Amino acid sequence: NNYALIMAGGVGSRFWPVSRVEHPKQFIDFFGVGKTLIQSTYDRFLKICPPENIFIVTNEIYVDLVRTQLPDIEENQILAEPIMRNTAPCIAYGSMKITEINPDATIVVAPSDHTISNLDAFIAAIEQSLDAARENNCLITLGIKPSRPDTGYGYIQYVETTLPTDPQINKVKIFTEKPNLELAKSFLQSGDFLWNAGIFIWSAKAINDAFSKHLPDMYEIFHIGASLYNTKEEKTFIGNAYLQCTNISIDFAIMEKADNVYVLPTDFGWSDLGTWASIYDMADKDYVGNAVIPSEQVMMFNSSNCMVNVPEDKLVILQGLHDYIVVESNNTLLICPRSEEQSVKQIVADVKSNF
Ligand code: GDD
Ligand code: MG
Repeated sequence: NNYALIMAGGVGSRFWPVSRVEHPKQFIDFFGVGKTLIQSTYDRFLKICPPENIFIVTNEIYVDLVRTQLPDIEENQILAEPIMRNTAPCIAYGSMKITEINPDATIVVAPSDHTISNLDAFIAAIEQSLDAARENNCLITLGIKPSRPDTGYGYIQYVETTLPTDPQINKVKIFTEKPNLELAKSFLQSGDFLWNAGIFIWSAKAINDAFSKHLPDMYEIFHIGASLYNTKEEKTFIGNAYLQCTNISIDFAIMEKADNVYVLPTDFGWSDLGTWASIYDMADKDYVGNAVIPSEQVMMFNSSNCMVNVPEDKLVILQGLHDYIVVESNNTLLICPRSEEQSVKQIVADVKSNF
């Protein structure tokens, strides 16, 4: 009864120009390991559920990329969204479609752009949560010990109370999605907050109930077509359904509001590849801190702590450059101090309006 719903519809604008609207980060092999992020995500779930129970929700413009990168997936396992409406509609759609296949399903909802270094610990945490979700009407999220006051994450404060069936899964007191910097700093200082890993585990029934309670309009939009899921009519129905959906994430729409949210504190070498800094942190570095992908054609002299990501056939020479990001893709070159990388999102917006 275990299912996975992999969300792969984001655009990853902070990784521009390597990640682009036409080819976002989940479809990229960032570390040169021979697998893209979505392929690694899929492979992880093969250890947790049968291949026919793994569903991918993505924008219709990425369906061909999904087909190419995950050739074993059947057409009915690719959920195509006509427009981007953030993660709440994508989860409402996925949950209801899975419910029609198996009303007793337990579902893991996962992003497609994370890296996980300890696979065994990851699988154990997911299986533990799936067991708990089967026995309790609750919404479970995985919690990660925070290491910096990052404003790009959800923060979770939990209490001593645990699930009756699992003394390691704690009740969540407050879920705060993307706090401002001041708040994030105070959460970090207080020491009893976790980051939301963005990986959710629940029964189909628990998440459908949560939508019906906290986002009744969206629940209705997707519920009304229940009998059309997994039929020829699904695509047309979804085309219309999305036009009526508000643009909101699951975190703001449900996780902040529901009172049956629980967290399993975990540690499996999780990293959200949200920025070049996170790639730099994960990548192999030389003795002066340069992370270079691929390394054959890049020559560095008196340069340190740089993140270089360029096409394989590009000859690149860096002289006297420290703490910089140098990335090229699609004939576009970006050079930016590592400390200013948060502005890449804004740059992309500006560049797009000018070119
Ligand atoms: N299908 C689909 N449609 N997928 C989407 C959409 C959409 O409209 N928008 C985003 N996604 C996918 C992204 O590709 C990614 O895999 C996942 O959903 C999460 O979206 P992000 O946009 O990356 O969310 P975030 O990183 O800002 O925040 C979430 O993840 C953090 C941890 O990485 C939240 O859950 C935070 O609370 C959490 O800390
Ligand atoms: Mg993310």
